[in-house]
Amino acid sequence: MSRKAAEILAAQVIAKPDCVLGLATGSTPVGAYQQLIRWCREGILDFSHVKTVNLDEYKGLKPDNDQSYRYFMNQNLFSGINIRLENTHVPDGAEEDSGKACRDYDRVIEEAGGVDLQLLGIGHDGHIGFNEPSEYFSKGTSCVTLAERTIEANKRFFSSADEVPRRAYTMGIGSIMKAEKILIVVSGEDKAEITAKAFGGPVTPEVPASILQFHPDVTLVADKAALSKWKESGR
Ligand code: GLP
Repeated sequence: MSRKAAEILAAQVIAKPDCVLGLATGSTPVGAYQQLIRWCREGILDFSHVKTVNLDEYKGLKPDNDQSYRYFMNQNLFSGINIRLENTHVPDGAEEDSGKACRDYDRVIEEAGGVDLQLLGIGHDGHIGFNEPSEYFSKGTSCVTLAERTIEANKRFFSSADEVPRRAYTMGIGSIMKAEKILIVVSGEDKAEITAKAFGGPVTPEVPASILQFHPDVTLVADKAALSKWKESGR
């Protein structure tokens, strides 16, 4: 799964060396990032003209906090490839003014010229970025309150659930849908149910990832376990 995802990301960088990649955190893309690092070290990939915009960041965490998504990206990808750090963007978790943080990040995405390829993972409740189940699909960057299930799932990276920030800044569903191409990676049996719902069920903001059914160019890369329930459903 990671190898396939890395190949799709690499193909984008080779086809358009000054492309804009939308990137994701979480454990699922880590293997793909490791492969990109290897190819860059071997001289197969050149990131010197690539720009990146990340999906989300915890509100209240500074970039040097080792639980922040900025720190995660630096550790898991940026420090291993020849990208210019000033070309990498993550919402500013340290900005207390939510309105400003969201407006600033929408401007960053716009100034980057739009996303060529957006990488996504999926949460157990169907969230993409940190867009939690809701009554509507968000448009631009917003400040969200994390669902209990998300806090539970993400507490493994913190010393306790209490340490997990309750709020986050996330790229909007509208911005995600504007990407030219989308690559979503999913692994594990624990994601089987939500994968079946998101891709085989109705499109609803109650399952934010289901909106991807309306995107013209989505590639789902998943392992067998994650696909097991979708296959069973026959849709
Ligand atoms: C977090 C991130 C999402 C990610 C999700 C799944 O909530 N905000 O962008 O897709 O986790 O993470 P994992 O890949 O670890 O299951």
